[in-house]
Amino acid sequence: MSDSRIGFGLLGTGLVAPFHAKALKASEVAELVAVSDVAPDRLAAFAAQFGCQSYATLDQMLADPKVQVVNILTPNHLHFDAVMKSIAAGKHVLIEKPPAMSLGEVRQMIAASRQAGVRAGVVLQCRTRKSIQAMRKAIGEGRFGKLLHADMYMKWFRPAEYYRLAEWRGQRRSGSGVTIAQAFHYIDLLQYLAGPVKRVEARMNNLAHPGVDVEDTLLAFTEFENGAQGVVQASTALWPGTDIRIEVNGENGAAIMSGDRMETWKFRDERPEDAGVRRYGTAGASTGATGAADLGFREHQVVIEDMVDAIRGGHEPFIPLASVVPTLEWALAMYQSAKERAPVELPIDEDRVW
Ligand SMILES: NC(=O)c1ccc[n+]([C@@H]2O[C@H](COP(=O)([O-])OP(=O)(O)OC[C@H]3O[C@@H](n4cnc5c(N)ncnc54)[C@H](O)[C@@H]3O)[C@@H](O)[C@H]2O)c1
Repeated sequence: MSDSRIGFGLLGTGLVAPFHAKALKASEVAELVAVSDVAPDRLAAFAAQFGCQSYATLDQMLADPKVQVVNILTPNHLHFDAVMKSIAAGKHVLIEKPPAMSLGEVRQMIAASRQAGVRAGVVLQCRTRKSIQAMRKAIGEGRFGKLLHADMYMKWFRPAEYYRLAEWRGQRRSGSGVTIAQAFHYIDLLQYLAGPVKRVEARMNNLAHPGVDVEDTLLAFTEFENGAQGVVQASTALWPGTDIRIEVNGENGAAIMSGDRMETWKFRDERPEDAGVRRYGTAGASTGATGAADLGFREHQVVIEDMVDAIRGGHEPFIPLASVVPTLEWALAMYQSAKERAPVELPIDEDRVW
């Protein structure tokens, strides 16, 4: 343990927590100091497994000066209170997606973090993929020409038991459902590449998970401000689960990321570096298609180490909370459209939840 490392405390020791803990253990600039959870058995087992301090309450963890950043790993409807408390205690926050339940909550979190002078970042680790960065750069350079289409396809599978692992997973009011939970990552990627969104029309269904009050399938048609259109398709009902695809088409180019791999990268103005871009990513990488634990921790490590850089450098993290507002707004607009069975124009009501 080195004093120069930035200390992290994890709030929540459920499914995603080991990815954070492994990332912290692998890091040379960050260290896992403490964990806290309301479930005492899970907390004790986790602290023993990863060799860190355990605290029964968030308040106790916030009182530990070695904890400089709190990673918020609780169910989605509980993020807001924990983030506000952590910021009030002067801690930086790294918040699992989605950051909160409404735009109004997120704006309060942003204002509080700015006032307190602390960093607030979101764990949307897929933005760090080289394939996504290459697409974003090419869009910025105008290589696609006029953007025509930006689409995502997430044909994933989660068994019925997944929705019973914890009560909140089967409840829309707790922030569950394929749109806001799993697909949020890829909705965010499309927003990052082609946003902002102007108008959306969505349908949501529960195709294969009877007994739970969430949509397991989303289908939406989107119009972007830049004139492009797009399909958003996401499901956890489609066995066995196949790699997500992000597709961008313009007058002069086409790019498809499958999993984290650049499957198609073609431009009218072929450049020497394009051959290298076509090798980005790994065939068969664990990107979540077949199960919740079908993930690696390296992308979490990149996000955590970026937070360390932001703290040391006194600048915004790579995925600042403010940058996620348009993603949440688009997702909430899809819920509104599905509920009203009508197209929805952005902006939407600040206090709307899904
Ligand atoms: N970035 C990713 O790839 C990724 C993957 C999975 C989950 N997530 C996100 O991580 C968050 C947690 O998801 P999960 O699947 O680990 O959930 P989970 O249900 O498996 O774990 C949540 C944990 O929080 C604890 N908890 C509940 N209320 C608490 C409170 N008030 N104080 C402290 N602890 C409390 C629970 O006891 C549980 O251990 C969610 O926001 C989810 O969207 C992100």
